[in-house]
Amino acid sequence: MKKILSLILTVVMVCSLVACGNSTTSTSSSSSSSTGTEKLIMCTNAEFPPYEYKEGGDFKGIDVEIANKIGEKLGCEIEILDIAFDSLIPTVNSGKADFAMAGMTITEDRKENVDFTDTYQNAVQAIIVPINSEIVDSNDMYDKKIGVQLGTTGDIYCTDDFGDENISRYPKIVDGVQAMKIGSIDACVVDDQVAKAVVAGDEGSFKILESPYAEEEYAIAVKKGNSELLDKLNGVIKEMKSNGELKAIVDKYIQ
Ligand code: ARG
Repeated sequence: MKKILSLILTVVMVCSLVACGNSTTSTSSSSSSSTGTEKLIMCTNAEFPPYEYKEGGDFKGIDVEIANKIGEKLGCEIEILDIAFDSLIPTVNSGKADFAMAGMTITEDRKENVDFTDTYQNAVQAIIVPINSEIVDSNDMYDKKIGVQLGTTGDIYCTDDFGDENISRYPKIVDGVQAMKIGSIDACVVDDQVAKAVVAGDEGSFKILESPYAEEEYAIAVKKGNSELLDKLNGVIKEMKSNGELKAIVDKYIQ
């Protein structure tokens, strides 16, 4: 009887190891916790409400809730590593995190360095300007100073379109918005839902321009070639899309 029990236990343990991908073998920091639950390390940049932000020391947001659901479904604990946005891809590639989830847009350049899951959310890059600004759309931005978050698609596209000399890069977009408030820059480019959250937090100071600057799709990034984890994440995303769990999370944060 004892033997059968220990055999069952071994099988269960092996299964949970497999379910959580390679984090337990690839990194020392992601070894089994005291509860015996395996761990998946997610890196993010929690300066991006409503996708990821900190509230009273806790991580909150759409990505955080989706990640926790992923953990639930794969039988792993999710540990969050909060780092600079432009460190996310190197951190996944170094094996210090199993995946990056940060409202991250799929781009051809990034695809050369990481593998992306299926899309879980669509977004657009929005333009925020001071409430009295005369800027109507991106055509008015050629001789203007533009704030972006370092390493984001807002940064990449604006640098291409308006020239490096016109771009001010900030570690978090709220710093750019503050700079715009005191008149050091003329506009900020950031993902639409984040723009809404930032503008709502400072009523009467800013407006979001009607025409979007760029359209994009968010996905989770894993180390190139980690198809085992990629397949599992895609399985969960597919399930969460079809059973309404994904929409329920998004609807909690976006009206
Ligand atoms: N969607 C943009 C990008 O992928 C911005 C994402 C910023 N995310 C964050 N958590 N700060 O470049």
